[in-house]
Amino acid sequence: MSKTILTTSAGAPVADDNNSISAGPRGSLTFDNFRLFEKLAHFNRERIPERVVHARGTGAYGIFTLEKDLSEFTTADFLSGPGKMTEVFLRFSTVGGGQDSSDYARDPRGFAVKFYTDQGNFDLVGNNTPVFFLNDPSKFPDFVHSQKKNPQTNLADPASVYQYWANHPQSLHQATILMSDRGIPLSYRHMHGFSSHTLSLWNRDGVRYWIKWHFKTQQGIKTVTSEEAVKMDPAGAQRDLVDAIQRGDFPKWSVELQIMTESEASSYHINPFDLTKVWPHKDFPLVKIGMLELNRNVENYFAETEQVAFAPSNLVPGVGASPDKMLQARLLAYQDAHRYRLSANFNQIPINQPRCPINNYQRDGLMSGACWVAGGVNFYPNDQVNQGAPAPESEFGEPPMPLESEAWIKTHSQDEDDYYSQAGDLFQVMDEEQKNQLADNIASGLIHASESAQQRMLLQYEKADSDYATRVNTRLKDIR
Ligand code: HEM
Repeated sequence: MSKTILTTSAGAPVADDNNSISAGPRGSLTFDNFRLFEKLAHFNRERIPERVVHARGTGAYGIFTLEKDLSEFTTADFLSGPGKMTEVFLRFSTVGGGQDSSDYARDPRGFAVKFYTDQGNFDLVGNNTPVFFLNDPSKFPDFVHSQKKNPQTNLADPASVYQYWANHPQSLHQATILMSDRGIPLSYRHMHGFSSHTLSLWNRDGVRYWIKWHFKTQQGIKTVTSEEAVKMDPAGAQRDLVDAIQRGDFPKWSVELQIMTESEASSYHINPFDLTKVWPHKDFPLVKIGMLELNRNVENYFAETEQVAFAPSNLVPGVGASPDKMLQARLLAYQDAHRYRLSANFNQIPINQPRCPINNYQRDGLMSGACWVAGGVNFYPNDQVNQGAPAPESEFGEPPMPLESEAWIKTHSQDEDDYYSQAGDLFQVMDEEQKNQLADNIASGLIHASESAQQRMLLQYEKADSDYATRVNTRLKDIR
């Protein structure tokens, strides 16, 4: 192989990259050290802001293969025609820790999938849990503050974690999952993924269906206990995924949907748009639609995994959002985050670029490399639409969504909802060992909370199942 000559970023060959230019061997540097300055200046700019949540992550490419034709439910091209294959990029993450924190925190795991469909990118930005701590987005920043490090000590703060939860019974279901034996996955390959939110599909007749997405691991669920977690390699989940793909042991997830009609939704006893609730499978069974396989590692972690920009607003014709209040806020929040982290032209970064043509009149801005203006016109409407200038097409419009009757515009408190039954149902399907692990995990954090927060938490557990409260209380007394 011939020798590759080192160059500057402008392509000029470099003669010496080890010695800066100085006035004599012991003298100070001279002003013509522009090669050195370029090197140092670029180094100074290597970091971009890390994600405000989900900063630590691992990504890989793969394929989603559709097995069941869904054209009855949706116009989406990637869901029509069995055997249809769509390239994906999946980024797994922990939530609370910084970029170099441990893969083994007791924390939900992000499960974000970018489907590069022929009709644009569809992003499913989910977690490894079917529910979330909140059902109103106005609480999200406070919630995240309470779970992250203490602003004064910069240390983990279990007292704040429980202070928040004591004031928010809506978190009980998700917190029960988090504190259970499922709370720390052994690796990203050994956990399920969920849209968590209700999304929608609509078909060519304008009929809409409410959908929850499930990704069932084919590697089996494997988890570690809190005691095992502290002894794990902090980069263990990242290593596990990279190594598995490297040796050709491609991880797979069965992709399954729960489907609810609009009329079922209007009479269902659970609010189908409440992110703290699941839809029981006996009412809405899982329908298998395909398989997702990861089969290619990234070549450059920063360029691909760090710069990938997922957005719940990346929807394609035939796939829509829902009135879930959390999802509605997320439709705006993510693109805003990307503009801050990656600039307004984040969709031009290769990992985010759709695999289909982009035709629009957005232009310029920092770091723009695209020439998307067709026909020499950069405004719409114009007189060149018959000569290739892009124009909208009404057939891709989402069917209208009716408002609830008597839909008053004001804040609507959800405080009085039932946040206990589903947490209780989950507790009841646990075996003895799982119930004890749950109580241990809770007590080890709750012991640091104030007496008042402890009492309010015990009341929540009591409302879910009295045995739940008794076990936590017993453990608290053992520790005291
Ligand atoms: C109102 C509620 C929420 C807000 C405002 C919010 C906001 C954010 C923000 C700002 C980021 C960083 C984005 C970036 O810089 O690239 C993020 C990342 C993420 N969020 Fe949320 N989030 C919310 C709820 C949720 C929920 C309910 C889920 C899961 C069901 C979720 C899953 C994720 C995932 C997986 C990532 C990481 C995506 C990646 O790998 O790049 N978030 N969120």
